[in-house]
Amino acid sequence: MDFTIRALDAFPEPEFTSLRAAAFAGIGEESRLLTEVIADETERRTQARMSDPQFPHQLKIGAFFGDRIVGWSYSRGEDKTLHTINSGVLSEFRRQGIYSGLAKFTVSHASQNGFVKIVSRHSPGNNAIIIPKLRLGFVVSAFEYSEQYRPLVHLTYLVSQKRRELYQIRSTPITPISDPI
Ligand SMILES: CC(C)(COP(=O)(O)OP(=O)(O)OC[C@H]1O[C@@H](n2cnc3c(N)ncnc32)[C@H](O)[C@@H]1OP(=O)(O)O)[C@@H](O)C(=O)NCCC(=O)NCCS
Repeated sequence: MDFTIRALDAFPEPEFTSLRAAAFAGIGEESRLLTEVIADETERRTQARMSDPQFPHQLKIGAFFGDRIVGWSYSRGEDKTLHTINSGVLSEFRRQGIYSGLAKFTVSHASQNGFVKIVSRHSPGNNAIIIPKLRLGFVVSAFEYSEQYRPLVHLTYLVSQKRRELYQIRSTPITPISDPI
């Protein structure tokens, strides 16, 4: 195909506006959908917060074997985000789905109370906590070097299913051009 590349003083209009709209069509639609989802989440969280008698918001949950507490998870709410601070299960009760149950409870609590996301920070080698969370739909959202805890991986669960779907689409790497020059 024959084409030429030229430097321009100004883009020709209205062709350029149409070209840009066509080239960004997919991206524009996703951005518009994301803006709508975020606006809806903000509204739901504001309503939930107004009716929340407990402020600052805290979630303390325990897993019981009979009357004995064998596991817990503790989260704190801040604005629209539920931060999971710590969780644990007694060693003899591990690998029986107890933590997965605690994490599912946290997800449904976040949803019912208008939180937009759940975030947590973990040592990157702690498979025992990272794997069950990834299975539930948490995603890796950041890395950090903490003076106190050293390397940390951040996990995030987006409460809205629509937002999870958009995250998946938007986080897919752009297909590279095989031979750009
Ligand atoms: C992390 C912890 C809470 C997990 O509790 P748990 O009740 O054993 O977790 P679950 O049984 O729900 O595990 C679900 C899945 O996670 C994965 N998993 C759990 N422990 C694992 C381990 N030690 N190594 C690799 N994968 C592991 C498995 O895929 C498991 O499913 P499976 O048993 O069917 O194979 C527990 O190991 C613990 O208390 N650790 C010490 C405290 C801690 O690290 N807390 C987190 C600090 S941020």
